[in-house]
Amino acid sequence: MTEKATLNIADKTVEFPVLKGTLGPDVFDIRKLYSDTDTFTFDPGFTSTAACESGLTFIDGDKGILLHRGYPIDQLASKSNYVEVCHLLLRGELPTAAQYEEFERSITMHTMLHQQFDRFFEGFRRDAHPMAIMVGAVGALSAFYHDSLDIHDPVQRNISAIRLIAKMPTIAARAYKYHMGQPFISPRNELNYAENFLRMCFAVPAEDYVVNPVLAKAMDRIFILHADHEQNASTSTVRLAGSSGANPFACIAAGIACLWGPSHGGANEEALNMLKEIGTPDKIPEFIAGVKDKRYKLMGFGHRVYKNYDPRAKVMQESAHEVLAATGRENDPLFQVAKELEKVALNDEYFIERKLFPNVDFYSGITLSAMGFPTTMFTVLFALARTVGWISQWQEMMEDPSQKIGRPRQLYTGPTERDYVPMSKRG
Ligand code: CMC
Repeated sequence: MTEKATLNIADKTVEFPVLKGTLGPDVFDIRKLYSDTDTFTFDPGFTSTAACESGLTFIDGDKGILLHRGYPIDQLASKSNYVEVCHLLLRGELPTAAQYEEFERSITMHTMLHQQFDRFFEGFRRDAHPMAIMVGAVGALSAFYHDSLDIHDPVQRNISAIRLIAKMPTIAARAYKYHMGQPFISPRNELNYAENFLRMCFAVPAEDYVVNPVLAKAMDRIFILHADHEQNASTSTVRLAGSSGANPFACIAAGIACLWGPSHGGANEEALNMLKEIGTPDKIPEFIAGVKDKRYKLMGFGHRVYKNYDPRAKVMQESAHEVLAATGRENDPLFQVAKELEKVALNDEYFIERKLFPNVDFYSGITLSAMGFPTTMFTVLFALARTVGWISQWQEMMEDPSQKIGRPRQLYTGPTERDYVPMSKRG
């Protein structure tokens, strides 16, 4: 028998089915709440609301577990590669050798941008934040790839997904090159996804760029760690934008805009700026005092879902070690500050009682900085890697027969109806 949740409201008793997932808390199906009771639920920030059904990613925030299609993130980070994880998220399963070859080839064959697209970048000031360029440029893809805009055609949906995953590194590298005042570097098909991206960022016409395998591996792992994270703010933005029938390029541009904020993807940039401001371990107590006075936040700490160590942060810390060693920066003072800051915070009552632990952004800035990226590129790299999650979630939504336009309700607290007052009579 289906379990029911009972609500007593005024003189009515209403029953709601309890839905069970394969993992995670049960949910009350309150879709009939309004029609049956003339009331809404109130949940700003969606702290207790499941907005969709999804089979992609599962997080157990109390235990610090993150699974993609059932596979733990630490296994994927150590045994898989980003393109394989893209296949897993987008198509539902790890690929066979033949599927992998076909999938990787289709991504490789879509990395180039329309020649006219390059002119787009020139419209931006050189000092534009690369995330501003990303929001504009990715939205502009919808003006270039008209042949994959029919969202009702699964073939076109798939081509758009592949185009987005394939072209995102090219766009991100161009945003970087434009910012640096250097010529754009074209993709090379013999390189893998991460190698290609690093080369497009760091090669110059005067000198070829030899990809350091340690850095390529670290880049690939950083992409894996950011690939998807269930219904976070930017993914929910993509879904909400897509629910109206908007094309996938426009939806992903909306996701990038949301990701930019310092509470979300922008935190990696803020975390490194914070470490720079602290400067030396002896300044940590003063900084922590300011956090406790609520003058600022400890960036790269805390998470809506994780009330335990973010499993991505563990892997990221290992990557930081590897990259710093490979670049001869083992004694990087910011890394020393970060490690000491983490130790102090994890033993401080303020952070313990609020269950604040390092998240993925705490160590990613140090790693990316050692790889040669300026802070302004950090969130761009997050957007690049998250594109597969966004587009997979969008695909899932498009295939969901219960999908409707997203339309939250509100608790109205404004004035009640009143008559218009002419200006001459307003006090
Ligand atoms: N530093 C200091 N105090 C914090 C922090 C922090 N980083 N995060 C939360 N708190 C405090 C907060 O002030 C509140 O205290 P009190 O109960 O005294 O009012 C308590 O902890 C609960 O916080 P909250 O704001 O209700 O938690 P939330 O779930 O709404 O916010 C968060 C989650 C990620 C926005 C927040 O922890 C934060 O702003 N962290 C810093 C930014 C950051 O690192 N973001 C990256 C998240 S992971 C990457 C991604 O997926 O985007």
